This record gives sequence, C-alpha cells and structure tokens, in this order.
Amino acid sequence: MADTVTGATSDPHAAGDDPNRRDFIHIAAIAAAAGAVGTLAWPFIDQMNPSGDTLALASIEFDLTKVAEGQQVVLKWRGKPLFVRYRTPAEIAAAVKDDNADLRDPQKDEDRHKPGKAEWLVVVGTCTHLGCVPTFGGGDYGGWFCPCHGSHYDTSGRIRKGPAPLNLAVPDYDFLSDTKVKIG
Ligand code: FES
Repeated sequence: MADTVTGATSDPHAAGDDPNRRDFIHIAAIAAAAGAVGTLAWPFIDQMNPSGDTLALASIEFDLTKVAEGQQVVLKWRGKPLFVRYRTPAEIAAAVKDDNADLRDPQKDEDRHKPGKAEWLVVVGTCTHLGCVPTFGGGDYGGWFCPCHGSHYDTSGRIRKGPAPLNLAVPDYDFLSDTKVKIG
C-alpha cells in the first residue's frame, strides 16, 4: 500500500530559495487496478513512454499525510505529472480574493477544489500552452510559472498571464477519507 517518495521536500515560501529548486516532492505512484493490493512507483524523472498496461490503469490513490502544509507532491498519472498541493491559508486567501479578477479562463477557486477542502488543490501539472511542467513559487501571482514561454498561474492554478489559454486542469478525483484521495 505504501507510496514511494523519490525526491526532496522544500518550503516554496522560504525566503531566498532558488525558484528552480524549491518546489517539489517528486512522487510517482500508480495504484494497481481493482483488486490489487499495492502501489507501484517509479521516479518522476523517468521520461520513458508509459507501457500499455500503465496507460490502462485508470486511477491512483494517494495518502495525503505525506504532504506538509505549503508543499506539494508530483504524482505520475496516465503518463502526466499531477500536482497535489497542500495550500496555506495565505494561498487560499489569495486565490479567493481574485475570484472576480479579470480572468482569462474564469473560474472561482471553490469550483477548483472539493467542498470544505480548500487546502487541497489537485491539478494536472502540464502547462495549457504547449505542455511544459510549471514550477511553483515563481511568476507574478504566487502560484506556478511555466518557464518555456512565460505563463503565470495563480495559487488556484488559474492562468493569469502569458500565452497559455486555460487554467491547469482539475482531474476527476474523490476523497476516500480525510487523508486519502483517489484520482481518476
Ligand atoms: Fe508553458 Fe509555453 S508551454 S508557456
């Protein structure tokens, strides 16, 4: 049942951190198909194309106790990175404050997380411009920044500046308990 953590943690808000180094725990976990008992993990840096059986896995389960407030993990899901972020009260407040801003892809923050679970943001970690992987803690809006062509996302994963047309996608997911989510 154990997921595998394959990277280092850091506080993205820590003063003076290098924005290229400060954001992720890298976790790659795939929950086995129904009836199986374990999870299979491999490093996020693995760039090989997923095999057919990997693609066939529809969902993953993740233990949220592995994430501290102000941090995120990067899961690998259906061949894509997936950000699971434990947002701070300041991040949530910043996102809600901009609900009525002039948004390119208008969406309220509360529509991007589960009811009563504002601290957990789950988004597909590919830039909606050309698919690079944004990093957290850069950009002008306190959220993610895509260095490929300069797209800025806020702490709700909404596109705020740059060429990307859409918000970071929120996948289908559910809370199985207070500490476990099932994605997909
Ligand atoms: Fe992200 Fe172009 S791929 S800005």
